[in-house]
Formats: sequence, C-alpha cells, structure tokens
Amino acid sequence: MYVCICNALKDRELAAASNDARNVAEVFRRCGRRPQCGKCLPDVAKLIENSREQQNGICKLAAE
Ligand code: FES
Repeated sequence: MYVCICNALKDRELAAASNDARNVAEVFRRCGRRPQCGKCLPDVAKLIENSREQQNGICKLAAE
C-alpha cells in the first residue's frame, strides 16, 4: 500500500527504512527521497514509533 503518494513509497519500504531512524527526515533520506506535500508525515512518524515499540519488545524478551 502506498503511504507517500508524492514519492510513490509503499508501507513496506518505509517500514524497513524506519528501523532505528531518529526522525521522519532520516526515513526519507534512506529512501533517497524528500517529503513534498507532507500529508504522509504522521504515518511515517507512526512507522518509526512502531519500530521502536517492536525493538523495545524484543529487548524485554531478551532480558527475561
Ligand atoms: S504524500 Fe508523502 S510527501 Fe506527499
């Protein structure tokens, strides 16, 4: 599914670029693109948040 229409970026590509990303700009940089209209930025931020939550979950499991 396309998340960023302006750059034709799909959810899978953005999710992969979101791993350990510090911010939305870094995700776009990893994809070799720049945000344009900005409508997708909240969704990309959510992908970063999901990635962090998954990492925290993995760390918690590893600590147990
Ligand atoms: S939809 Fe992503 S910049 Fe426009």
